[in-house]
This record gives sequence, structure tokens and C-alpha cells, in this order.
Amino acid sequence: MQVCSNNQQILHAVSTWKAQGKTIAFVPTMGGLHAGHLSLVHQAKANADKVVVSIFVNPTQFGKNEDFDHYPKTLEQDLTKLEACQVDAVFTPSKEQIYPNGYTSHVKAGSLAQGLCSKSRPGHFDGVVQVVHRLFEIITPNVAIFGQKDYQQLLVIRQMVETLSLPISILSGDIVREQSGLAMSTRNQYLSVDEKETALKLYQVLIQLKQAVLKNQDLSVAIHNSKATLSQDFKIEYLSVFDANTLKSITDNTSKIAILCAVFLGSTRLIDNIIFNQG
Ligand code: PAJ
Repeated sequence: MQVCSNNQQILHAVSTWKAQGKTIAFVPTMGGLHAGHLSLVHQAKANADKVVVSIFVNPTQFGKNEDFDHYPKTLEQDLTKLEACQVDAVFTPSKEQIYPNGYTSHVKAGSLAQGLCSKSRPGHFDGVVQVVHRLFEIITPNVAIFGQKDYQQLLVIRQMVETLSLPISILSGDIVREQSGLAMSTRNQYLSVDEKETALKLYQVLIQLKQAVLKNQDLSVAIHNSKATLSQDFKIEYLSVFDANTLKSITDNTSKIAILCAVFLGSTRLIDNIIFNQG
């Protein structure tokens, strides 16, 4: 496994593979790797000849009062896990490699970035799109894999690729959960043992809400009830039931539904979702 900390090294690896006619799958991450990330790596391996994983905690997607300075950094363990998955190259750039002096990006997140996470994290998706576009520019993958865990992010990236007509297929990976049902997240490291116990209630409420939706119960009543249950343990940022393609209210044309939520448990922000077909 090659570990490339600067652009020249990764450009060399990628151009060598391309000259050999190999295809490249790319998994961007911010490190703190867990089984959710590794499932994307396995999916990448199944979809291309070579797999590149990036580890870069992107400052431009964090707000002023967010956890950029404390974001878990576990590079040694991350590299061990990626080596065990037989990843071909890991790109671990510095901020200067990604955003060299004078670098400007004109790429902005599209309409799907509006609402949901953007309400409390204004500019977050502009930062995500900026870094993913820059990483795509350097790595020029054929395929890139993103988790459904960050569902709005996945749609925003798909929209960017379509708008810019980038020749990259975007694949989505299922949410990997703890046995308890809690969606795996690097930020789960911030939770105490008691909080972890509480956190699993989030997925249980989402499942109950899904059942209510499938039974055609009144949507606003069902959401109200779910919020009442959630608010016993969490501070709710949003809990929404939307058309999974438009991230807008469900219409007669809706075929796929997204239940999306963000909550705070203490000072830890958790997001989760369930995507399912209209009954
Ligand atoms: P990060 O939070 O490290 O996540 C990297 C990728 O792993 C994302 O596509 C995310 O959706 C996926 N992922 C996270 N938890 C998952 C889980 N439980 N199951 C399956 N996939 C999961 O998302 C980012 O980093 C950044 O915004 C990034 C795209 C790298 C840009 O900086």
C-alpha cells in the first residue's frame, strides 16, 4: 500500500495505473476510520482495479464553533485497517497540498444543499463540494463511493457531478450500524457509555416513524409523536420526512421516501436516516 502525503506522489501512482489501463475507485474520508468507512472500501474494490482512500480533515466544511480542532486523528490505526483491506494507495495530504497559496474554488453546492444540515451548518456543503471537487481533480477516479449515512452530502455530490458533467460514477454505500442499531460514526467516540446506550433510541424512533409512514398515518401527527419521544433524550435539530430524490415534501410522484434527522446528545451531534420505497 502506497501512502502518499503529497500531490506528486499520488499523481504519479494514478498516472502509472491509468497508463496500464486500470480503473480507479476513490473513497474520500476524514479518518477516524470504522467499519462504515471500510464497507465503502470493499465496495470500491468490487468496482475498479485500484482503490485510493484519502484521509483529510477538511477545514472548510467546519463551522467556527464546531469540532475541527478536536476531530479524532487516528492515522496509525487507519493505515493498519486500510492495509488489511488491501487498499492500493492512501492519500494523506496537508492543507497546503489541497489548498495551495492562491487556490480559489468556484464550485458551490447546488440546490440540494438547502435546508436540513445547512440550517445549522451554513456553508458546510460548499466546503464539502470544494474539497471533494479538489480531490477528484487530483485523483481523477472513474468511480467514487459515498455513504448513505450522510444522505444529503451524497445527493449534493451527485448534483455537483451532474452539473459539471464530471466523468465519475458516484456509488452509495449502505449505513453500517453497531449491533445496537446506532449508525457508526467517527463522532461516536465523543459519547460516554451511558450516552451510547441512549443514542440507540434514535434509530428505534426512525423505524417507528417509517412504520407509521408505511401505514399511511397522518404524517404531521406521526412526526409530532416521534419528536415528542426523541425530545426526552435529545435536542432535535430536525426530523423530516421528504421525497428522497428532491429533499422536498412528499408528492403524488414520490417513489422513494427519506426520513432524515439530526440531534444533539449532550454536545455530540448525531445524524441518521432511513430511505425506503413508498409502500
Ligand atoms: P467522513 O465523515 O470521514 O465519511 C467518509 C465517508 O464514509 C462518507 O461518504 C460517509 O457517508 C461514509 N460513512 C460514514 N459513516 C458511515 C456508516 N456508518 N456507514 C457507511 N458509510 C459511512 O463525509 C466525510 O468524511 C467528508 O464530508 C468528506 C466526504 C470526506 C469530505 O471531506
